[in-house]
Amino acid sequence: MLDVIDLNLEFHDHLIPETVVYDFDLHMDEGDIVGIVGESGSGKSMSALAIAGLLSRKDMQKRGKILYGGLNLLSCSRTELRRLQGKEIGMVFQEPMHSLNPLRRIGWQVEEALLLHTDLSSVQRKERAIRMLQDVELKDVERIYRAYPHELSGGQRQRVMLAAALICNPKLLIADEITTALDVTVQASILELLKRFNKERGVSILFISHDLNLVRKLCDRVLVMQKGRVVEEGMTEELFAAPKTEYTKELLESIPQFRKL
Ligand SMILES: Nc1ncnc2c1ncn2[C@@H]1O[C@H](COP(=O)(O)OP(=O)(O)OP(=O)(O)O)[C@@H](O)[C@H]1O
Ligand SMILES: [Mg+2]
Repeated sequence: MLDVIDLNLEFHDHLIPETVVYDFDLHMDEGDIVGIVGESGSGKSMSALAIAGLLSRKDMQKRGKILYGGLNLLSCSRTELRRLQGKEIGMVFQEPMHSLNPLRRIGWQVEEALLLHTDLSSVQRKERAIRMLQDVELKDVERIYRAYPHELSGGQRQRVMLAAALICNPKLLIADEITTALDVTVQASILELLKRFNKERGVSILFISHDLNLVRKLCDRVLVMQKGRVVEEGMTEELFAAPKTEYTKELLESIPQFRKL
């Protein structure tokens, strides 16, 4: 489904060009859940943004291939990209307050992708949106449908973002630090939600997180990034039980629960 080959990302907005991602490779099949971990600044978000087709800055040089269903997202047209975004590939970021429009009601924002990608009538769109809001386990959905983002809690906003990203049934969901700002119980319930969507709808998930415990609970496979490079990759359990690189060992040792492994 997704094949990222030799992705290199380089900024040209300073005097000296700065490479932030080197030779990034990733293969994902339908239904896969892959995690990306690594220290702050290691290039996780940049890689994710590139895969979502959201790095359109002119001061950035992108080399390599991002093949999605045979189409290279680095060289295809903007029209082709827009056809995929929100329909085939959904993306959710850490802080929903930045991704949600504060001036628009939740219902409108959840329906937006339907407006762009389907011919559904406004009544049908509302039906789908209400069902989607229920699907992400929100209560009181009629109120939430009419609410503005500031009227919701952080956890509710993150569920709304998931509803908006999943409403067109994308095949791939990219989730970048979506649980970082939430408390532990809300984190756990969002994780269960992702697992359920993966099982029931077969959506593949690229899950980026600082939290190795969450990655361990959710992901089948993990990529470890350091300074713009993937330094280790493996099946989650194997990698956590027997890390091969010093960097991964340190990463695991910094978490108390993993010391005994
Ligand atoms: N405009 C820019 N010019 C040069 N370098 C940049 C620019 N914007 C971001 N970077 C660099 O790109 C690198 C990768 O950033 P990225 O956001 O992908 O890290 P990350 O792994 O997601 O970190 P975090 O865990 O903190 O979210 C960082 O070193 C950052 O400083
Ligand atoms: Mg990031």
